[in-house]
Amino acid sequence: MAKPILVANWKNHPASLEEAKSLIRELSKAKLVLKKTRLFIAPPLPYFELVSSGARSFAGLASQNMFAHMKGSYTGGITPGILKSFGVRLAIVGHSERRAQGESSEAVSLKVKAALKAGIAPLVCVGEPSRDADGEYFEVLRDEIKASLAGLSKSNVSSVIIAYEPVWAIGKSAKESLAPAELAESVIFIRKVLSDLFGRKAAESVHILYGGSVEYANAGTLARESGISGFLVGHASLNAKQFVAIAKSLTGK
Ligand code: 13P
Repeated sequence: MAKPILVANWKNHPASLEEAKSLIRELSKAKLVLKKTRLFIAPPLPYFELVSSGARSFAGLASQNMFAHMKGSYTGGITPGILKSFGVRLAIVGHSERRAQGESSEAVSLKVKAALKAGIAPLVCVGEPSRDADGEYFEVLRDEIKASLAGLSKSNVSSVIIAYEPVWAIGKSAKESLAPAELAESVIFIRKVLSDLFGRKAAESVHILYGGSVEYANAGTLARESGISGFLVGHASLNAKQFVAIAKSLTGK
């Protein structure tokens, strides 16, 4: 069976290089457990070297964002080629915290295509901002998936990974996250949308991860009952003990 995928999105943490070093040291102690997953760490850019050298034996390097253009003069833009040269194999694109700063699904779709061109797997974040009793949020989700994956074909969509991150469930506690049955329903819906867009076979080949207040307390049930391939973890990835426990519940060990 394929290994579950686990992605640590450190966002803009830890607060200093010293703390980041200490987190890597703690994670290294559990490398045998972590190696049972396909683990990626997406640190702030200044910690790239630390993660790529310190976690080389148990984690791949991921980026939290990526520039859509391959070349040109764009101050502050980090191109896919530069990321690739640092060993980045996966790029988070369209995170809701970036969409909240104005990133559109159209911009996300350009980044997805640029990542594929550079040989980086795009981890495309989608998720409804809120839920309503009539289920209209499903339409919001459908539109976001459609626009974010615009221009892809049956053959390259299988290199895309979807991270389902309902915005309302991010940055809370396990208790406030969504229920396993709600996650299972959303995963079925996302696969249906992918199937409508790219055909059933291609849709089945796309990995779907879940993110949004994944902690040790809810990881086991969310993983078991939903059809996901793994997790995209925010705050709990900054606590080595929590994170290793999440890895264990994903691998069932
Ligand atoms: P939390 O796990 O802190 O809710 O963050 C989720 C997330 O945004 C990961 O990308």
